[in-house]
Amino acid sequence: MRSLLFVPGDSERKLEKGFTSAADVILIDLEDSVSPQNKAAARGIAATAIRERRENAKAAIYVRVNDLASGLTDDDLAAVMAAAPDGIMLPKAEGLADVERLSVKLRVLEAENGLADGATRILPIVSETAAGVFAAASFGRGSPRLSAVTWGAEDLSAAIGARATRDDQGRYTDVFRLARSLTLLAASAADTAAIDTVFVDFRNEPGLRAECLEAERDGFTGKMAIHPDQVAVINEAFTPSPEALAEARMVVEAFAAAGNLGVVGIGGKMFDRPHLRRAERVLARARSTRLSE
Ligand code: COA
Ligand code: MG
Repeated sequence: MRSLLFVPGDSERKLEKGFTSAADVILIDLEDSVSPQNKAAARGIAATAIRERRENAKAAIYVRVNDLASGLTDDDLAAVMAAAPDGIMLPKAEGLADVERLSVKLRVLEAENGLADGATRILPIVSETAAGVFAAASFGRGSPRLSAVTWGAEDLSAAIGARATRDDQGRYTDVFRLARSLTLLAASAADTAAIDTVFVDFRNEPGLRAECLEAERDGFTGKMAIHPDQVAVINEAFTPSPEALAEARMVVEAFAAAGNLGVVGIGGKMFDRPHLRRAERVLARARSTRLSE
């Protein structure tokens, strides 16, 4: 998954539009973009959209439910699990324990709705509270339901009382860079993908592109979007370029030709096992992109 487009769950118009985009994942939101009085209506609209779209949509369909402390999660899940979404995004997750709590709920709902045990994937937002950030290490235990982990800056800023998330140059300040870094490490420890957070300035395409390139460089394999116009930029940035693919193939072939030694020289540069692993990851990403297109 390269691009994950948020669509407010109470907007039939935006849902319609979202499904015409080239996003790899449509994230139907029942949480922050839906007002308390619209929650019930949004559940019904979301369930209908999933039922109508899941056969023909190229995108995977995920639902962002309200967090486990909200008192709303069970009603959200009851409404949408009957429509069999591909996955659930869990906001304000406080470590793998919250993923495991959600997993138990999903298991029951899968049984009740005649779905395969474990069919529903979980994508937690791991940095929206201080406890969530501190619990990043718990992801080392892993969970078979995890499809990726992602992070959020806005809720964390509210939680800690920060007036802004970025400095005058537009760079995230330290506490948010820490949350971002811990997300990468949590994903690696859980052997899953890391997805970068949203870029809210949706008319600023150069800014989005720059942030995508930085994220890709650092190990994120996708980014969430809040506007359909962001999808193409994200897909391009997270699709391995022809040059990156050619280099990865060359590295893999050089190791194979050398009889899988631990280290080879290519064009006067040393390549050892971490370089091979990196090359294999690039090839795997390109394969999964081709499969999803
Ligand atoms: N998904 C689907 N369609 C969207 C969309 C989205 N996330 N964001 C905008 N659109 C649609 C609009 O409805 C509009 O369609 P229309 O012309 O047929 O009415 C078109 O794209 C152009 O929209 P635009 O005028 O550029 O933006 P806007 O002012 O209508 O909307 C936001 C701006 C931020 C309110 C909107 O992008 C949005 O709702 N984003 C998602 C918010 C969200 O889910 N947040 C939670 C996660 S942080
Ligand atoms: Mg939020």
